[in-house]
Formats: sequence, C-alpha cells, structure tokens
Amino acid sequence: MTVCSRKCRFALLLVLAVFGSGSTAGLLAQGTTVDAGLAMTPPMGWNSWNKFGCNVDEKLIRGTADAMVASGMRDAGYQYLVIDDCWHGQRDAHGDIQPDPQRFPSGIKALADYVHAKGLKFGIYSDAGTKTCAGRPASRGYEFQDAAQYAAWGVDYLKYDWCNTTTQNAQASYSIMREALNHTGRPIVFSLCEWGTAKPWLWAASVGNLWRTTGDITDKWDGKHDYSNGVMTIVDLNEPLWPYASPGHWNDPDMLEVGNGGMTEEEYKSHFSLWAMMAAPLIAGNDIPHMTTPIRSILLNKEIIALDQDPLGKPGHRIRRDGDREVWVREIAGGNRAVLLLNRGTAPADIHFSWDELGYPVKLKATVHDMWKASDVATTVGTYTVHDVPSHGVVVLSIKPVL
Ligand code: GLA
Repeated sequence: MTVCSRKCRFALLLVLAVFGSGSTAGLLAQGTTVDAGLAMTPPMGWNSWNKFGCNVDEKLIRGTADAMVASGMRDAGYQYLVIDDCWHGQRDAHGDIQPDPQRFPSGIKALADYVHAKGLKFGIYSDAGTKTCAGRPASRGYEFQDAAQYAAWGVDYLKYDWCNTTTQNAQASYSIMREALNHTGRPIVFSLCEWGTAKPWLWAASVGNLWRTTGDITDKWDGKHDYSNGVMTIVDLNEPLWPYASPGHWNDPDMLEVGNGGMTEEEYKSHFSLWAMMAAPLIAGNDIPHMTTPIRSILLNKEIIALDQDPLGKPGHRIRRDGDREVWVREIAGGNRAVLLLNRGTAPADIHFSWDELGYPVKLKATVHDMWKASDVATTVGTYTVHDVPSHGVVVLSIKPVL
C-alpha cells in the first residue's frame, strides 16, 4: 500500500468533514445504512476486557475459542469472540496497523482463521480518537485503511471506542467508520462504544448495530465506583431507552460480569436476566476455560437466552416500582408476555402483578411458566404473586394465554 492511497485520501477528506460544520454530520449519516441482515437479535459472544483488561495474547484467545466450543457456549448462541483494547502494536511504514508482536506473534489473520475454524466469528477493537483508552494507536485519520485491514484479516465485529476524541463530533466520527466498513463489502457488526454521552440512541440506528448507553460496568451489584457503575445503576440508566431498540439496533448496557467473582450467584442470575429482559447484547466477560458449573449454568440457561433473543426484538421495561420491589414486562413473540420480578432489598419479598398491568383482559386464563425452573407453576386468572423472591434476586416468568 502506498503512504496515502485513494481510500486514505478519501478518509482524510472525511476527517476534515468531522471538524467542519454540524450539517456535515447529517449528510454523512444520511448516506449510510447498516447492513439489514446483521444483529437481527442482540449479538452474543465473549469479550476480553472485563476479566483480562490489557492482558491479552493469542494463547488466551485460542484457549477461549476452544472453551467456547467445549463448554457449549458456541452452540448456545455465543458467536462473536472479540479482543478488546491492547492487541495493537505500531503502524508500519505504510500506516497499516500491526498487532503487538510479542503478544500476537502469529498475526491477527491466523488468529481469525483459528476462531473461524471453530465455528465462531471474530471481533476486534479500535477507537475513534487518536489513541485507544489504554493508549494504543487508534483509528482517527486511518478509518478506511483500518477497515480494509480488518476485512482482510477476516474481522466480523468491530467495537469502536471514544477515548481521546477531544472536540470530535460523535455522529460524524462514527459515520466515517460506518462508511469505511461499508466500503470493505464485508458484513461487520459495528458496536459503538460512546458511553451514551451524545445520546446515540437518537441517531445511531443508521450508523451501528449496537450502542453503549452508559459508562463502564463493574463487577458490583450497585452504585457508582469512580468511572464505572454497578449493575443496578446501569439498569436504571438503560431501562428508559427501551423504545429505541429494534432488530439490528440495540441498546448496549455493557458486557456481562457474570462469573468474575464480585457478586453472588443470585446477583449474577439477576444481572443475566435483566440483560435478557432489556434485549441487551449478551457478551460474556469471564474466564471461559475456568468457569464453574453454576456460572456455566447461568450463561447457558436456554430459556433466558431465548428471552434475550426473542425474534420480536422488543425490549422489556419496568412497569411498577414499589420501593425495592419491581415488576418488568416484555412482549414476546406469539402474544405472550415475559414478566420479571426483581427484589432489590436485603430480605426476601413477595411480589405480585395483575393481568391488566400486562395489557391482558383480567378474565383471561393463562399459564404461568417459571423460566429458571423451566416448568409451569400455575394456570390462573387475573393476578399472580410470587412469595419470597430472594434478596437481590429475580423470578422470570412467561405468561401464556390459554385460548
Ligand atoms: C473503555 C470501554 C471499555 C473498554 C476499555 C478499553 O473504557 O468503555 O468497554 O473497551 O475502554 O480500554
């Protein structure tokens, strides 16, 4: 590749446009579309960041690919294996990004081939600014060159971060990479990691397949912790955005912490269930080769995964909050409703709901099915109460009209 090819010059023009007038952003966005066939249900996979941070290398990625197959994760739907920050080395004399030669001596193409041979898809990470969040070379000014490189390596998913972007316009910056990905002709899921600052849910449906709605998650039940948030804090930020998600375009409340050790199994079940109710991407973030049986059984729960992946693609939302007790509903395919009862309190609690809260006629007879128990628990009319929902626990039900 020459120092600045035609593609590269085009990229430079677009970069100039980012720092130009606001109307340019609108123009760029109009001209781009997201590939309609991608991410029709929320993406599922694994990402290295939550557990391993910058400690990534090709051995970890190969071992994780092997374990995703052996543990049944691949067959349960976890498709994308994504390396987050810190895979990067330097750019070569042509400006082409190279992997860290110590950590990825076989190169990214060989790694992607390995992952593909396991029946998985391969994802990578970059950033719209001058450097990634961990200070590695990022894509500003190299969007077309990087996208072409990713496509040549066989990348199927790009997570694109927002560090070191100074005064860049988010919509314009993400639209450039959208254009660059389109230009490769390879279907690549585009994951916007802008933390919700520029309200991507208002503009990103024509740019990406998923957009982060919040700052980073941390492996804690609740609260704000420096720059990151516990699960309940994230839920409260993400829940009101439910009307903006639809097939191909998802709210992303960040990757899963299930199995990373900071929460109880009950809390991990709640975290996983709430992500499924919100139709969030299910991107596991734990040590897959070494996960315990209880953690595996959370991540592989068939009914909760099916809830997340419901083909209607309509996220659920909270319909009532009585102090620590919450009732959530999600419309699912076939006219059924999923209902999640959440107890944020420190003692077990009874939680009830009624058919009219779900939009059903009060006299409708319906079967109540418990998804974690994988069994029907009642056939009834009008209302239902679950006794002793555990502290920090959930009960997830589906309500099926008996016609
Ligand atoms: C940001 C993102 C995280 C992760 C790190 C990597 O904080 O929000 O998800 O990608 O950068 O440095």
